[in-house]
Amino acid sequence: MQQVELIVGSTLDQAVGWVAEMLHDRYTKAVKAHGRFDMAFAGGGTPRALYSLLATPLWRAKVDWSRVGVYVGDERHVPTGDPRSNFRMVRETLLDRVLVSQGNVHPIPTSTRLDDDAAAYEQTMRTTLATLDGMPRVDLMLLGLGPDGHTASLFPGSRALGETERAVVGVGPPDAPTERITVTPPAINAARDVVVLTAGNLKAGALAKLLAAEGSCTELPARCIGPLDGEFTVVCDLAACEHLDRQALRQGIVTRRL
Ligand code: 6PG
Repeated sequence: MQQVELIVGSTLDQAVGWVAEMLHDRYTKAVKAHGRFDMAFAGGGTPRALYSLLATPLWRAKVDWSRVGVYVGDERHVPTGDPRSNFRMVRETLLDRVLVSQGNVHPIPTSTRLDDDAAAYEQTMRTTLATLDGMPRVDLMLLGLGPDGHTASLFPGSRALGETERAVVGVGPPDAPTERITVTPPAINAARDVVVLTAGNLKAGALAKLLAAEGSCTELPARCIGPLDGEFTVVCDLAACEHLDRQALRQGIVTRRL
């Protein structure tokens, strides 16, 4: 049974601080091992606090961002300047404030047909990343968790949850609330490390189902996370833990309070 580490901070800021430390540790190891660190950034609102922390002078000094390959785990199929764009959020909170190498920054294209953009991003990932079991492999896949248990743009009941060949797909109603492009479960599980960062009592129900002994990926898409050759860490604040029942947790969960 795969081990899942659950890291609980008293606050989101404490949880974010831990993720930053972990990111720095994995960055250091990856650069030492293969000269670069490839990371897929999560969208939504929760990771904003992490990206803002990484953009502070203290953290800017810790990471040579020219060695970082920047990817996005999912994107709304909207123009790049649209306020709903995940990449725009990552750029404004972090990338505009650190010295990334533009050739290493890979936003998801959203200017042509949904499926063509998804296929183009898959091609980008496959030509720039290492692979595991035929899937492009990032060093760190950062994901969020929706109140319904979605992660990236993999929503309950989505046909994308059954994808086994493609690393990136386009999704839209009824599989997703709007047209989006997302990494698939095989691409998530090819990562060296997967971190789910979540916070707030609105996510407590989904987190309890994610970590429960029983459950289905179809109903709770984040349960599709299970790195083939990597670590799975869930980082949250206390509020997100309020429905956790220690007896009902699946085996292999190691909990650590910060
Ligand atoms: C998106 C994200 C999505 C997000 C969750 C949690 O495009 O919105 O990829 O999966 O991580 O919805 O979002 P919050 O962090 O805003 O709660």
